[in-house]
Amino acid sequence: MTEHQLKSLLEQMTLDEKIAQLLQLAGPFYKGSKDNGEITGPMAEMGITAEEIEKSGSVLGVSGAQDVMRIQEEYLKTNRLGIPLLFMADVVHGYKTIFPVPLAIGCSWDLDLAEKSAEIAAKEASVSGVHVTFAPMVDLVRDPRWGRVMETTGEDPYLNSEFARAFVRGFQGENLQEDTNRVAACVKHFAAYGAPEGGRDYNTVNMSERQLRESYLPAYKAALDEGCEMVMTSFNTVDGIPSSGNKWLMRHLLRGEWQFDGVVISDWGAVKELIPHGVAEDEREAAAKAILAGVDIEMMTACYVKNLKHLVETKEVNEAIIDEAVLRILQLKHKLGLFDNPYRGADVKLEQEVVMSDEHLNASRELAAKSVVLLKNENILPLKKEQKVALIGPFAQSGDILGPWSWMGSKEKTIQLADGLSDKTSTINIAKGSDIETVTDEQLEEAVNAAEDADVIVLALGEDSDMSGEAGCRADIRLPESQLVLVSKLKQLDKPIVAVLFNGRPLDLHGLIDQADAVLEAWYPGTAGGAAVADLLYGDVNPSGKLTMSFPYSVGQVPVYYNHYNTGRPKLDPDVKERYLSQYLDIPNEPLLPFGFGLSYTTFTYSDYKVSSETVTPETPLTLSVKITNTGDFTGDEIVQLYIRDLSGEVVRPVKELKAFEKVSLKPGESKEITFTITEEQLRYYHSDLQYTSDQGSFEAYIGPDSQHVTTFSFKLVK
Ligand code: BGC
Ligand code: BGC
Repeated sequence: MTEHQLKSLLEQMTLDEKIAQLLQLAGPFYKGSKDNGEITGPMAEMGITAEEIEKSGSVLGVSGAQDVMRIQEEYLKTNRLGIPLLFMADVVHGYKTIFPVPLAIGCSWDLDLAEKSAEIAAKEASVSGVHVTFAPMVDLVRDPRWGRVMETTGEDPYLNSEFARAFVRGFQGENLQEDTNRVAACVKHFAAYGAPEGGRDYNTVNMSERQLRESYLPAYKAALDEGCEMVMTSFNTVDGIPSSGNKWLMRHLLRGEWQFDGVVISDWGAVKELIPHGVAEDEREAAAKAILAGVDIEMMTACYVKNLKHLVETKEVNEAIIDEAVLRILQLKHKLGLFDNPYRGADVKLEQEVVMSDEHLNASRELAAKSVVLLKNENILPLKKEQKVALIGPFAQSGDILGPWSWMGSKEKTIQLADGLSDKTSTINIAKGSDIETVTDEQLEEAVNAAEDADVIVLALGEDSDMSGEAGCRADIRLPESQLVLVSKLKQLDKPIVAVLFNGRPLDLHGLIDQADAVLEAWYPGTAGGAAVADLLYGDVNPSGKLTMSFPYSVGQVPVYYNHYNTGRPKLDPDVKERYLSQYLDIPNEPLLPFGFGLSYTTFTYSDYKVSSETVTPETPLTLSVKITNTGDFTGDEIVQLYIRDLSGEVVRPVKELKAFEKVSLKPGESKEITFTITEEQLRYYHSDLQYTSDQGSFEAYIGPDSQHVTTFSFKLVK
């Protein structure tokens, strides 16, 4: 269809038909779905009529080629103008082949594999009938109490932006109309959903516009620059106004300044939530605020469909605003090729072949192995085949390693750690040792028995998937007491302990990291998780992941992140005892494990630094080179990081900001020179008047294997 044809289609639509395009409902409402439109409970209470369903614009959370095709077919039988439904779903880190959670993918620092994972997810989802995925989630995070930190790639605006782009490329490909193996992406949650006070989900977000622009907005913008088709609002307030009714955020910034002309969808129920937030008296006012602010599709509440017509009649909402929203939705349907083929990529036969193929499983295993971070290793890893292993812990034989956002993933088809280890060695004793949050004397006794004749204990611990994710916030982020009891019990045996952690957030590792000889942070590694972790434990793959979110020393430090400001009384030397400094009296200022940190089985040295000049000008960048040498016995990947600091700005500047990184793969004895370029553009920041410019003056650049262990170079910006 041409733009002209889309517009004439819009002209043929009645106001009721237009308004219904803005409604998104879950699958059970529809004829042809498993519930066949016979809904009960809260869904029935929404009071949606059969006529509204027949005209509605999009469906949420349905997949499976057969189901999608049946719903579409039934729908088109009664839809007057033959406008097909859009099918949207959360395909966040895999459809059925589940990849590691995004926080883990972040720790791989591997943009190509991240893109590949999204491409595979898109392929599986599209043959199963999905048109749009509610991903990538790119919210910047600094508070591990918040359950949703596992859905994002971490605490750094630059790295998050790079991943945002990679995911969008992977989901969408070059051309959604021609390439039906891809899906449209919807970046979320706009904006700053990752900064709720106290780390409590849905809570207030309070920050200056400058901070918003500096840290929180770049990743959403990066996704849009990459062509992301849709944006989802967030549940939180931004400067006192909930996102879903925030005109400044959507009309001024998103549509005005950023020129975004795609579809904006509310998060689930967020339009109606304007009422409890306290900015709308009733559903009518909520509808008016949301549509005027720029929300096109209302997800799962009925404020629009029940009120917009009247709001148009009373001239509180101009019909032209509704027309714009509908046209954007029609344009998206056209871009996806739905007017030519309403079934798009859905294919029952292909679905059988493509979904969970060996190729996809292998890609998931590869990315999982690169996402795991080795946090400690006192000469115990890698394990040797002849060692007798006791595998103990609630995650020894658990398929609950897919993470909370894997509704289509199958725990039964997931490779558990016990399966992975059995492929490497035949001498394993297995015991559960404890449940996630409880432990009995019998379990402890069984664990001790299993460990007694072992050479090494592999302890599989962590949080179950309900303990993180949406509404999965925790105020105490230590491992549950039951598991710490198990650790202490086994410690008495005086055998080496290797802990493998399956969890969705940075934890306070006290009680574990001091007891264990080695710790592997496996996150929720996905469908091939057990195999990937076994590859690492036995050294078939060398760990290379590095943390993209700081691990706090204690929850009392939170938020703790590497790119903080300095204060006027910084504590520069941890050993100096002086009272009037910005510090805690009882714990260090530094996180337990910093951003960028991760160990390897080999060692790398950094040498032969070369700096091209001591100045950067707008015309001439500076280059910094370093030689990286693998000085150990294993082939390995090193992630070399470049940070900068503006020593004196018009507003205070972070003590470090990641500006570039490079991943190098080196054989034992091999070296490689890496060169980074620092440009004037990289030195710009938001000033107090919100202008994004750079200032003349002194800077430092830092190169190193993480954000704490760096070599410093001074330079000046001359303009
Ligand atoms: C979540 C979103 C998700 C939506 C649809 C909401 O509760 O916040 O991330 O995309 O549900 O499932
Ligand atoms: C404190 C002030 C105090 C001053 C003189 C400073 O370090 O912050 O509150 O008045 O010392 O004692």
